[in-house]
Amino acid sequence: MDARSISIERAEVLRRQQSTTLDDNVVVVPEEREMGRGCASRERISSILVSLRSQIGCLSSALKVFQDNKVNVTHIESRKSRRDNSEYDIFMNVECSKMAIEELLEKLRLQNPENFSDLKTFPTCPEETESPDDDVVWFPRKISELDKFANRVLMYGTELDADHPGFKDTVYRKRRIHFAEIAYNYKYGQPIPRIEYTDEEVKTWGTVYRELSKLYPTHSCMQYRKNLPLLSKYCGYREDNIPQLEDVSRFLKARTGFTLRPVAGYLSSRDFLAGLAFRVFHCTQYIRHSSDPFYTPEPDCCHELLGHMPLFADPDFAQFSQELGLASLGVSDVEIAKLASCYFFTIEFGLCREKGSLRVYGAGLLSSIGELKHVLTDAAIKYPFDPAHVIRQECQISTFQDAYFVSESFYEAKEKLREFAMNLKSPYSVTYDPYTQSVEVLDNMKNISQLVSSVRGDLYTISEALNKMQNRKRKKRTMEENVGFNGK
Ligand SMILES: [Fe+2]
Repeated sequence: MDARSISIERAEVLRRQQSTTLDDNVVVVPEEREMGRGCASRERISSILVSLRSQIGCLSSALKVFQDNKVNVTHIESRKSRRDNSEYDIFMNVECSKMAIEELLEKLRLQNPENFSDLKTFPTCPEETESPDDDVVWFPRKISELDKFANRVLMYGTELDADHPGFKDTVYRKRRIHFAEIAYNYKYGQPIPRIEYTDEEVKTWGTVYRELSKLYPTHSCMQYRKNLPLLSKYCGYREDNIPQLEDVSRFLKARTGFTLRPVAGYLSSRDFLAGLAFRVFHCTQYIRHSSDPFYTPEPDCCHELLGHMPLFADPDFAQFSQELGLASLGVSDVEIAKLASCYFFTIEFGLCREKGSLRVYGAGLLSSIGELKHVLTDAAIKYPFDPAHVIRQECQISTFQDAYFVSESFYEAKEKLREFAMNLKSPYSVTYDPYTQSVEVLDNMKNISQLVSSVRGDLYTISEALNKMQNRKRKKRTMEENVGFNGK
């Protein structure tokens, strides 16, 4: 069953659930996603199920109404109605505003009464989570809803630019299509398919791995140096082996709760950051072209596995990353751009201080031999990490960065980010429930009371743990004093 047939089935379920009178011929499944905040027409993607009489010209006259109302039909399919043999069910995906849909349905009713015995709309869909408010950009509320945008790849995927090193290599391009298909077909909860990497791919990985490994002891932060050996031990990080995403995902899950999803190319900043809110990292699985192992125009598995993974195994870094993701949910495109800059100059190009020395934690640096050497020299300009400064700094994609930002610790970076996020124009506060892997919007007393109850529970546990520690210390001291007294 593909996505389209799921939709038509779902629309039918909705009709069955909500129809008390059985003459209903139109079902509108409300927005699945909004097309981006700031869009003047506030377009949404909606699904409509229309039952038409099986007569010549019925469909074309109905479609004319869509055309006249400037409603864009992006998908259409039909099948014989299961309720009435003389009718056809027509399923459509449309892009238009809520108001335009209402006008359209009204015109359908007025202009084609002979085709539709009785038209009804169904404004709610109990199976879908919705944005908490009509003015708020849609964002995933459950981890499974990341499936909805995993295929919205902006760049690369199956297509390569003409200046991509692999553009003229048909074998490489075929291979990229294979990786893209794995990512497109992946659904939440599935194991990530294992890859049989070719000898050429392993050789490319080995070259990068060998050269970067020479720099890590002197350039990477202590969290990186601690976790890389663990990845070697448990996930097969070796010069002659490209680790499997599934193994790394399982390892991270046990360490910090982070998991991986395969992705075919670049996601939008909004979608990518939303993944972090659920401690999910969208991760490429393909490798750069073998003609130049030290250059890639896009993130590949060398960048993801060597740059990002050791840090996602650190609890403080994982928390910082998730905070960045949570701050992005439901905010405007302008605010997303600010958070994307914060992501870029920390998780990709961040520096930290370690016993007075500068060290690297950004994945863009930890996977680039040239820039990793450059960043710790005096030639690289560095500033203390400050989100207000970071958002004014231009991100360089094809050259070294003009400046880098130094955090004293991930904890400090997280606190600064929190403070910064509080001033973003965010419609709601949200909290993440790790038990249900869902985002709770704190827009009603019930959710706030639940959070207070949870915090109270945590405080009680902390208080109890401190009391027990004190009691143990007191008991130990008494025993030592008794030993001293008896021994006298
Ligand atoms: Fe990255």
